[in-house]
Amino acid sequence: MITTRAITKTYTDEDIITNALRSITLSIEQGEFVAIMGPSGSGKSTLLQMLSFLDRPTTGIIEFQGKQITDLSDSELAELRNRTIGFVFQSFNLLARQTVYANVELPLIYGDLKPELRAARIHNAIEAVGLSEKTKIHAGKLSGGQKQRVAIARALVTDPSVIFADEPTGNLDSVSGTQVMEILTDLHKHGKTIILVTHDLKTAHYANRLITFKDGMIESDKKL
Ligand SMILES: Nc1ncnc2c1ncn2[C@@H]1O[C@H](COP(=O)(O)OP(=O)(O)O)[C@@H](O)[C@H]1O
Ligand SMILES: [Mg+2]
Repeated sequence: MITTRAITKTYTDEDIITNALRSITLSIEQGEFVAIMGPSGSGKSTLLQMLSFLDRPTTGIIEFQGKQITDLSDSELAELRNRTIGFVFQSFNLLARQTVYANVELPLIYGDLKPELRAARIHNAIEAVGLSEKTKIHAGKLSGGQKQRVAIARALVTDPSVIFADEPTGNLDSVSGTQVMEILTDLHKHGKTIILVTHDLKTAHYANRLITFKDGMIESDKKL
């Protein structure tokens, strides 16, 4: 589903050059649940940004569903991302003063779904994360675990084929973290491809495959 061929990413900031990724060649099949681990600064978030087309590699090729996407324009990439990818961040990235409903609705505003179909989708996504009774509450009033569940509903609402999660349990207590991982596991059982970055080996074990990173390179890649 996603293949990278020798991708690299170099950041140039003032006079400082950082080789965040050094030649990553990797294939992820549809329906996999992949965990990525590695020290802070080893390039995990950079890789997720490349795989989800949030940013482009400096060199190398990325194919998505058999098509090379590295040549697409920014607007074509944005459209493809909106249709196929959901993203969950460590820090939730919700609009605190908007309701749960409005937060989950956001990705649909950019899509072309008819307004009457939207509401059902939104309610289904909120129900899938167990927050139906919080639909009209402002997101800022929720606990961390509830916020992350809203973020998952927002990632889900477009019915993407791949869900990326960059340390989704990093700011959560262990009970909320377990709930979030159980939701991701359930989505995987229903056919979603999940690509997760985590610091925690126990969290990584929800996945079927573990890739470890070191200094911008893949150190190991094994089935779990
Ligand atoms: N936008 C950026 N500009 C400059 N350097 C960056 C940027 N994003 C990440 N880096 C650098 O790239 C390296 C890899 O970062 P990152 O992918 O965030 O690592 P990880 O997620 O594994 O902690 C780090 O040295 C980091 O400082
Ligand atoms: Mg990171």
